[in-house]
This record gives sequence, C-alpha cells and structure tokens, in this order.
Amino acid sequence: MIKKFKPYDEVLEILDQAANMLGLEEIDYIRLRNPERELKVFIPVEMDDGSIEVFQGYRVQHSGVRGPYKGGIRYHQDVNMNEVKALAAEMSFKCALVNLPYGGAKGGVKVDVSKLSKRELEKITRGYATLLYPVVGPDIDIPAPDVNTNAEIMGWFMDAYSTLNGKLTPGVVTGKPIELGGSLGRDEATGRGVMLMVREICKRLDMPFEGSRIAVQGCGNVGGAAVKHLHKQGCKIVALSDVSGGISLANGLDIDEILDFLSQEEGRQLKDYDSPGLVRFPCNELVLQDADILIPAAMGNAITSEVAPHIKAKVIVEGANGPTTRDADRILWERGVLVVPDILANSGGITVSYFEWVQNIQSYSWEEQVVNQRLEYIMVRAFDEAWNCAVRMDTSFRMGAYMVAVKRIVTAAKMRGLS
Ligand SMILES: NC(=O)c1ccc[n+]([C@@H]2O[C@H](COP(=O)([O-])OP(=O)(O)OC[C@H]3O[C@@H](n4cnc5c(N)ncnc54)[C@H](O)[C@@H]3O)[C@@H](O)[C@H]2O)c1
Repeated sequence: MIKKFKPYDEVLEILDQAANMLGLEEIDYIRLRNPERELKVFIPVEMDDGSIEVFQGYRVQHSGVRGPYKGGIRYHQDVNMNEVKALAAEMSFKCALVNLPYGGAKGGVKVDVSKLSKRELEKITRGYATLLYPVVGPDIDIPAPDVNTNAEIMGWFMDAYSTLNGKLTPGVVTGKPIELGGSLGRDEATGRGVMLMVREICKRLDMPFEGSRIAVQGCGNVGGAAVKHLHKQGCKIVALSDVSGGISLANGLDIDEILDFLSQEEGRQLKDYDSPGLVRFPCNELVLQDADILIPAAMGNAITSEVAPHIKAKVIVEGANGPTTRDADRILWERGVLVVPDILANSGGITVSYFEWVQNIQSYSWEEQVVNQRLEYIMVRAFDEAWNCAVRMDTSFRMGAYMVAVKRIVTAAKMRGLS
C-alpha cells in the first residue's frame, strides 16, 4: 500500500529532533506539537452561471506564544487541513527564527483558480473573510498572500473585514496594494530574500556568487522575483519552470526578456515563450537540471527520495515552503548537498509583511530603500544565528534554524508561565 504523504507528520519529525537536540523534555514543548486552533469554513458562492457552489476554507492558528498569528492564504485545488496545519507550524518557526513578534498561522481555500472568473474569485474571498472575521484582526491574526493569491485579493479581504469592523482596518492583512496601505518592496521581498540567502551561502561555502549557475522551479511571486534579483547580481539562470513546463539554456536565459514577456498579458506561461537555442523539458524535471544551485519556488513535496539521489546541484535554497521531504533531506545530507531551509530562505516575505503591519499601525510609510536595508539586516542576522547553531551542534542547516526557533518559542512560553 502506498503511504499517504502527511506534511504535518514531517514537521513534527523536525520539531521532535530539534527539541531533542536542545535537551527538551516533551512536556517543555508539547504545546508546539498541536495547533492552538483549527477552523474549517464552508463558503457558498453564486457562480456566473447562476448555480451555487460551496467551497471549503481553512485557517489554522498554530502558536500565539510570541505574538499575533501570522501567515498566508493559499488558493489551490489540493489545499487540505493536514497541509494547512504543517504550513501554519512552519510559520511559527519562521517568525521565531527571524525574531519577529508573531506566532504562526496559515489559511487556504480548496479551489482551482484557473476555472474561476474574477467576480467568482472576489466572491469567494469576501465570503472567506466574512467567515474568518471572528478570529482575525490586526492584533489577533494577520493573513497575507501565498500561492494563487495576490495584492488585489488582499485588498478585497481587507475591505470585507473593514465593512464588518465599521472602520477601515488596513492592518488586518499584509501584501495589500500600495494605495491601500501596502509596503513598498513587499511584492518582491520573498524573491529578494532568496537572492540574499544565495549570496550568503556562497560566501560561507567559498563558492562564486556572480556567475553561479542556478535552476529555479516556479516563476510566480517568489520564483519570478528571485530570478530577477539573482540575474541583476550577475548569476546565470540556466533553467526555469512553471506549471506549463521548463526551459533551459546552458549559457543562461535572458531573464529580462522572459519576465517582460510574461508580464505583458495575464495568464501567459513559459510554454508560450520562445527564443533561439531554448531546450524544453517537463516541469517535474526542473530539479534534475545541471546547475550549481537549485531553488524550488513552487509547491511543497517537489524534492522526494526518488529524485534526491539524482540532483546535480551542490546547494539547494528552499524558496517554497516544504519542498523537501524528510527522506529526501536525509539523502541530500548523506550526499553532502547543502540545503538552506525554507523557514530561513523564504522569510523575506514575512519580514516585509511585518514592516507593512508596523507602517499601518503607525500610519507612516517608509522609503523602499529603508525597507530593503532592514530586510537584509534581519535576514543576514537570522542566517548567521542558524548557521552558527548548526556548526556548534554539528548538524544540518535546517536543524540549526529549527533549534534557534524552537528555543525562542519555548523560552517565551516559560516566561509567560505557560507549560
Ligand atoms: N508569496 C510569498 O510571499 C511567499 C512567501 C514565503 C513562501 N512562499 C512559498 O513559495 C511557494 C510559491 O509561492 P508563490 O507565492 O510564488 O506562488 P505563485 O502562485 O505566485 O506562483 C507559483 C508558481 O509555481 C508554478 N508551479 C505550480 N506548480 C508547479 C509545478 N508542478 N512545477 C513547476 N512549477 C509549478 C506556477 O506556475 C507559478 O509559476 C509556495 O510554496 C509558497 O508557500 C511564498
């Protein structure tokens, strides 16, 4: 019988290992093994053809020990409670690692967005926001964009919440349009952060950063901004994929031309792009491309034990959440492939989300240069803390990052008098 993949079990395995290495008893961190709150909602929507469809939505609030819950909203046909729980727990650890005053949460709606009109998408978002109203708010739980959600959707969510709240409440979500209180630099923050983490790992490993050959899976919010910034820094993007397929060019793809092509029309994909000498491959083969550095920046579970033995890259920087299974992680460790873990590598988004929230509370907006400088400071600090912990404990970079995070949450819980 095929074992069903359960992302939350994988998170628990890492948590238990990190707690064990920290010398914690289960009683010290038992509250982290279960989310504090799990909510399932049903969203009835009148579709464009007059029929009524009911969509399932979720919100999981994993840990509120260090501050209000924080985490994105995902719209995808595969969204399920186990996955949302895993993503919520990872948010708790991510916020603790970069030392933001937040706990972790995640939400999602089970829906195939490619089958929706814009009106239907808006109706689902407003219905979801209305049902979440009692459990979210600027001091309670602050959603943000994730897979298939964007600034426009955050604007609708904020409007629905504000209507129920009787006043404009921009601080209820981050990742909003700039005109509605969004922060400069937020849209590219996760991808910019991925670039910074590639730079830092190259320094640590004494590998060249400029001219390094990089393969990137996913060309959305994270992957698109990551290739833009890496290309700007002189890295060569030798392979790139999205859900429609992959493209590669040994001397490096023309990233400016590709991003410009994709942005010209909504719905454009890499399969529509062409250029002399381009090699095409199925999207699941991106992780096997010949490159120095691999950046999974699409969905979870992309690097499994089947593909891990064949990965050619020496370094993996996890732009996506949960792209590497535990079994694959063990294989990569044995093979000496260094993995920069997701809770560090993609923490640029949550960091600038935090800046956005601070700006909303202060009714003050920062220059983009200030946002980018502070982002770099926070991420490089977190990189150093996780790296130093991993070296001190002779363990993986992932374990070093989790140890820093778990220790912070457990210490805060103790200081609050919580068991
Ligand atoms: N948006 C953020 O700020 C943010 C922050 C931290 C982590 N993340 C994580 O990064 C990942 C990507 O999120 P995003 O916001 O860029 O999503 P997105 O919806 O903007 O883009 C997803 C991209 O992945 C591609 N894709 C989907 N399935 C694929 C497949 N099987 N093979 C190759 N490509 C595939 C899509 O075509 C698209 O290019 C997710 O794991 C998300 O949780 C996002």
